[in-house]
Amino acid sequence: MTHDELIQMKKGYIDVHCHVIPHIDDGARTTSQALRMIGIAYKNGIRTMVATPHYEVSRYDNNIEKIIKYYNKVKMLAKEKYPDFNIFLGNEVFYSYGVIDGLNEKRIFTLGETDYVLVEFSPNDSLEHIEKSLYELINGGYRPILAHVERYENVIKNHRNTERLVEMGVYIQTNVSTLAGKSGHRIRGKVLKLIKRDLIHFIGTDAHSDGRRAPEAEKGLEYVLKKTDEETAYRLFRDNALKMLNNEYLEED
Ligand SMILES: [Fe+2]
Repeated sequence: MTHDELIQMKKGYIDVHCHVIPHIDDGARTTSQALRMIGIAYKNGIRTMVATPHYEVSRYDNNIEKIIKYYNKVKMLAKEKYPDFNIFLGNEVFYSYGVIDGLNEKRIFTLGETDYVLVEFSPNDSLEHIEKSLYELINGGYRPILAHVERYENVIKNHRNTERLVEMGVYIQTNVSTLAGKSGHRIRGKVLKLIKRDLIHFIGTDAHSDGRRAPEAEKGLEYVLKKTDEETAYRLFRDNALKMLNNEYLEED
């Protein structure tokens, strides 16, 4: 692939997992930091971002007005600087009892007002707990996306675990930093195996700052291109997320 083709392809990546809204969680601390994060994302070819502040009972309880206020502020300032940059609103939901009520009552945000919900668990949670919780979301009419699958030892240890979740109707997200090798070779190898089996649907930067956890995409993209093909890279970095934001199913045409 030529450099120009690569640049062309970089138009319009979609980051479905990013802590870019300031004053809400452990992500961006200020509006100016949020804008610097967007600047980094833009340079990395990202043109659409779903802001996903943590939702966790008694730790990050959603203050809806505050989230919407800063979301609108960042969105407006980003538009002034980058007219072709879009931000949608969501949550990264730490699953617990009551989450479905919260979603139904719109106290917890789905991704961009679709039926898709980004869900996380504790790294050591059992496969049974993860499976049962995700099933409850599906049963409640939602389409759960498991955030950073590589973080759950009990899921990632065998690709069949992820396969079972996907067969149940769960979608799977991996962090770009993992594809860039930041979680080590073993984990990256396992994620690549999942990609080759079509068991990864979305990438996210899971960015929290403009420093160590910045919204970078380039290295992860290069890895996917090297190890798979353009179609796979497009699907993970853009096409699936486009369908998701239109609230469509991802199944092949
Ligand atoms: Fe996150």
